[in-house]
Amino acid sequence: MKFNTKVIHGGQEHDKAYGAVMPPIYQTSTYAQTTPGGHKGYEYSRTHNPTRNALENAFASIENGNYGLAFGSGLAAIDAIIKLLKPGDEVISTNDLYGGSFRLFTKIFQDFGIKFHFIGMQEASNIETFVNKNTKLIWVETPTNPMMNIIDIKAASKIAKANNILLAVDNTFATPYLQKPLDLGADIVMHSATKYLGGHSDAVMGALIVKDKDLANRLYFIQNASGAICGPQDSFLVLRGIKTLHVRMQRHCENGKAIAEFLVKHPKIENVYWPGFVNHPNHEIAKSQMKDFGGMISFTTKGNNYEEAIKTIENLKVFTLAESLGGVESLCGHPASMTHASIPKEEREKTGVVDSLIRLSVGIEDIEDLIVDLKQALG
Ligand SMILES: Cc1ncc(COP(=O)(O)O)c(C=O)c1O
Repeated sequence: MKFNTKVIHGGQEHDKAYGAVMPPIYQTSTYAQTTPGGHKGYEYSRTHNPTRNALENAFASIENGNYGLAFGSGLAAIDAIIKLLKPGDEVISTNDLYGGSFRLFTKIFQDFGIKFHFIGMQEASNIETFVNKNTKLIWVETPTNPMMNIIDIKAASKIAKANNILLAVDNTFATPYLQKPLDLGADIVMHSATKYLGGHSDAVMGALIVKDKDLANRLYFIQNASGAICGPQDSFLVLRGIKTLHVRMQRHCENGKAIAEFLVKHPKIENVYWPGFVNHPNHEIAKSQMKDFGGMISFTTKGNNYEEAIKTIENLKVFTLAESLGGVESLCGHPASMTHASIPKEEREKTGVVDSLIRLSVGIEDIEDLIVDLKQALG
């Protein structure tokens, strides 16, 4: 089945009771048993729920995986991955990453005796320098949030496999429409399904997808034992969102390209970060592992002026200033004070997250309205 068909049908069956085309929202915590253990495959909704299962099958299908798991948020999904580890284990992570992932790693799991190395991975060979006998996980975000760096997943996977290390990729920004990490050698794909997969800014959710049965079973155990699952209503919403992922992503990419090209020529802009530019340092890798370049763009205002950046943000009318990304509507954010506020200033500035940086999640509105909005905000 091709991707555009998978988003609609992948892993789905028509409802067995009445043939409903969409899986019903099974708003139930428990299931009747005729005798202890005499049930129809469902005992308790922390463990399994038919609506969540339909979504989990869709996750697996669109990422070319065998097993999908849905969680109450992206961070809950990441939390489950790190729970595969033990005290003394080490993780090598991209140094430019979502602030909440950094916070989870450094403020929670570091205290449990897990060591994290945050490194630049644009040269994948740099990963090798940090590998030792305790390394159990390589954590890759690509494109990175918010600097839009690109990490070579195939190269990272080669290093992971040679050293018997798990490779997990946060595929939130790219989505499987643009890039399929499992096909490139990753062991685990993670999503904040809150973003493009859901696509309508109406649900908070996380996803994990794997190919390996044993790894899936370990993660299912953690999902059930820790209990950070999502409810049936949100499962339904995200499943519905996935059905239009391909058409939404196509428009996100078209609008993203038009806006990146507009910004780069604007006299009031200093830097534009978007992997579609031929002079983006990782453009060739982006071209080889992504189908297109997405709708996420970061930029700084001329002279890296903080006040100018804030004024621009406040002037925007069609773009809404809000946390999050990946919805049909265009959003803008100020990473230093919003999504990345939990990263110390000197740490975030090392990777380029300066006070004048603005991040855009370009939506699927009419491109003329978006450009007019940016023009007036910058003007
Ligand atoms: C790249 C990335 N990963 C993970 C997360 C965390 O996901 P959630 O907010 O669904 O917990 C986010 C949230 O913004 C994100 O942008």
